[in-house]
Amino acid sequence: GVVRRYHFSVARGTIAPDGVDRPVLLVNGQFPGPTIEANWGDTIEVTVANHIVDPAEGTTIHWHGLRMIGTQWMDGVPSTVQCPIAPGSSFTYTFRADAYGSTFWHSHYGAQYSGGIFGALIVYGPQHVPYDVDLGPVLLFDWYHANYLEVVESVVGLPAPTTQAYSDNNLINGRTPYDCNNPSIAEKNLTCSRDATYSQFRFTKGKTYRLRIMNVSSQGFQRFTIDGMRLTVIASDFVPIVPYETDVLSIGIGQRADVLVHATGESTDAVWMRSDVSANCAVSYQPHAKAAIYYEDADVTQLPNTTATPYDDSHCGDVPLNLTTPVYPMDPPATPAVTQQMDIQFLANETGNLLWYVNNETFRANYEHPVLLLAKAGNTSYPNPDWLVYNFGSNSSVRIILYNYSFTNRSQHPMHLHGHNFWIVAEGVGEWDGVANLKNPMRRDTFILQPGDPVKGPGYMVMEFVTDNPGVWPLHCHLAWHVSAGLYVNVLEHPEKILNMEIPHSVYQNCRDWADYKGVDL
Ligand code: C2O
Repeated sequence: GVVRRYHFSVARGTIAPDGVDRPVLLVNGQFPGPTIEANWGDTIEVTVANHIVDPAEGTTIHWHGLRMIGTQWMDGVPSTVQCPIAPGSSFTYTFRADAYGSTFWHSHYGAQYSGGIFGALIVYGPQHVPYDVDLGPVLLFDWYHANYLEVVESVVGLPAPTTQAYSDNNLINGRTPYDCNNPSIAEKNLTCSRDATYSQFRFTKGKTYRLRIMNVSSQGFQRFTIDGMRLTVIASDFVPIVPYETDVLSIGIGQRADVLVHATGESTDAVWMRSDVSANCAVSYQPHAKAAIYYEDADVTQLPNTTATPYDDSHCGDVPLNLTTPVYPMDPPATPAVTQQMDIQFLANETGNLLWYVNNETFRANYEHPVLLLAKAGNTSYPNPDWLVYNFGSNSSVRIILYNYSFTNRSQHPMHLHGHNFWIVAEGVGEWDGVANLKNPMRRDTFILQPGDPVKGPGYMVMEFVTDNPGVWPLHCHLAWHVSAGLYVNVLEHPEKILNMEIPHSVYQNCRDWADYKGVDL
C-alpha cells in the first residue's frame, strides 16, 4: 500500500454556512473539513497541529469505524488511548485503512466535533453492486447558532436542564440557508444574510449514483429522502449488505449508509434532496436540510420545486434487523465467553445535575492518564473510579446487553463501539427473552438503542464481538450531549497482550507536552 499524507491545522474561526454567523472550530479553515481518501490497505498519516486559542482547548482526532488493528494508540480518544494534543503542539496519527467504504473523522475531545471538527474519510475497495458515478460524501449535520460549549452548558449545566437543545438548522455538506424571517434572529440578536446557498449535485439521466450518506450530527436522528426517488441501500457503516430498497433512509448519529440512486427523471429535472432531523424519538418540528439535484439540462438558476416523499415516521430506533443482511456471512460464537449487562439511566447527581449513568456510574475523562498507557504499564487499578473500565480479561468473546430506561424523554442512543464491527443478535422493547439470532446477524459499528416504553419496559439491544483486537475501546452513545454527560464506558480487551505492545514514543511525548501545558506532573 501507499502512504496517504495529510496535514490538519485546527483553529477557531467564524462561518455562516446558513447565512448566520457562528463561532466554530475548523480544520485548515474548511467546513466541513478536508476529505481523506485512500485505497483499502493503504497507510494514512495525518499530522494534527492544535492552534486552538482564545480560549485554548486540547484536541484529538478519531477515525470513526476503522478498527485500528495493531495501532490501538492511534484511535484518537483522549483519556482512553492518548492525552489531548496541547495547544501549540502537534501529533502525527499513522494507521492502516483496514476497512473499506464510507466514514468520517472527528474530534473526540468532549463534544468538540459539534464545533465543526469533522470531515469525510473514504476508503475505496471491492464493489458488490455496480453503479456509474460516485457522488462522494453527503454529510448530514444538525446546526446550532450558539457555540457548542454554550449548548453543552444548556443541556448538562446546573441546575438540571428543563429544555432540550433543539438544533436551529440542519445542513447537507455544510449548507442549507436559514430563514432570515425566523423570529429567533431578532430574539438572539443575530445577523442573517440572504446570500447563503444550497449544496448542489448533478445527475445525468439514466445513470446510477452512489451517495455516501453520513450522520455527523450532535443530537439529530436523520431521515433522508430524495423527492420521488427510491433509495437502494448497499452498505451500513463499513459492512456491505444485501441491497434493500426504501423511500426513506433512517440514520443515527455515527452511522453511514451507502445508497444507490437511479436517475430516472427527465434531463431537464431539478429535484430536492432532504434530511429531516429530530431530537430523541420525537416527531420533528425542527428545520430540515435540503440540497438541490440538477439533471444535465436543468436550469440551475432556479430552485427545484418538487414535493417531499411522504413516509411513516412512527418507528423509533434503527432500521429493522430483518432488512439488513451482511453480504459476507459471519456467525457469532454459539455461546459468548462472557456476558455483561449495562443499564442506562438519566439521573440527577448529588448537586442536582442530570447526567447519564451506566450501571449507576457516570464517566468523567481523566486526560493525564490514558487507560491504554496504564494497562501497558501493568496497572489494573485505575486511580479514578469514574473511568468505567470493563475489563474482559482474556475472554475470547463478549456479549453486552444494553437496557435503555429513558421512558419519559424517549431518548434513543446511537451506541458506538470502537475497534469492532459488533453483531446485533437481538433488539426490542421490554425484557429480552434470551433468544439471540446467531445466523449471520447484522453487524456494524453503531446501532440505535431504542427508547424505553412506560408500558412495555426498557429498550434493549444485545451486541456481541470476538476479542480479536487487544486494546481499550470506548463504547458510548454518539449523541454529543450524552457523551459529554457521561454515557461512555471503556472496554478493556486482552490486557495480557497489551503488556507486550510497542507503543510509539510519540504517544508518550504527546502526554508530556500536555502535562507541560497543564502544569501537572504525570
Ligand atoms: Cu465517532 Cu467514539 O466516536
